[in-house]
Amino acid sequence: MRFEDRVAIISGAASGMALMTAQRLAAEGARVVLTDVNEQAVTEAAEAIRAEGGEATGVQVDVRCYDQVQAAVALAVERYGSLDILLNSAGGNAARVLGRSGAFHELDIEVIDWGLDVNLKGALYFCHATLGHMLRQERGVVINMGSVDGVTGCRSPDYSAAKSGMIGLTKSIAIIGAPHGVRACCVSPGPVLTRPEMAKMKTRLGRAAETEEVVNLILYLCSDEAAFITGTNYLIDGGRSIGGMYS
Ligand SMILES: NC(=O)c1ccc[n+]([C@@H]2O[C@H](COP(=O)([O-])OP(=O)(O)OC[C@H]3O[C@@H](n4cnc5c(N)ncnc54)[C@H](O)[C@@H]3O)[C@@H](O)[C@H]2O)c1
Repeated sequence: MRFEDRVAIISGAASGMALMTAQRLAAEGARVVLTDVNEQAVTEAAEAIRAEGGEATGVQVDVRCYDQVQAAVALAVERYGSLDILLNSAGGNAARVLGRSGAFHELDIEVIDWGLDVNLKGALYFCHATLGHMLRQERGVVINMGSVDGVTGCRSPDYSAAKSGMIGLTKSIAIIGAPHGVRACCVSPGPVLTRPEMAKMKTRLGRAAETEEVVNLILYLCSDEAAFITGTNYLIDGGRSIGGMYS
């Protein structure tokens, strides 16, 4: 029960790594506010955690809307009394999510807007809305989901730019938070099997990650076992970023 007295708020929590993180945090005693743009899925996810005996609330939040972010943070503090863990996970490759294909320079400009607004600005919004609470209570952890593409680059410049931005955001929050007991880390996965097609992506280890493998790292970084870790980007990519095999 590593998170017994902790309150967590998570973006993009209706599926994938964020959903599993919410489930695992709740199983280890945290009270969790799951947020996602998909209202039905996030409501059902929170209900399922409660059915297992955990404490969870599901809230519809589009990370592009600061008032929704702020309202969810206020709800978490009001309902559960503190705010100790923030996981910024909402995101994805904009062209894929929006069902577009083609060369970057031929894509509609809305693809770039989605890519930066959801993958980066939403995390900034959540950091802005939560940091005051964490600084005042002299305790907190922010985990930002980056990507190996933010380190190596890829054919979706909006995605790699946003995910590189998550590393800078993490370092800046770590600098602001350190004197007040607030840590920040970035987790940058290679392909993860939150979608079956990720199995096709190359890594040195010859496979994509199981969702649980990344969630294990997120939980460790959220825990007191990682009390001396802040401002760091963790690649968890099966060696994909080593280079030399994709050129
Ligand atoms: N899966 C991978 O292989 C992989 C690899 C590297 C990095 N990542 C990153 O990790 C994070 C989680 O990936 P995943 O595959 O577990 O996620 P996922 O694709 O399963 O879930 C993303 C969630 O974000 C939500 N979302 C989309 N737009 C939103 C918005 N405007 N506001 C709020 N929520 C919104 C979706 O509804 C969905 O529930 C993402 O940021 C992704 O870019 C994933």
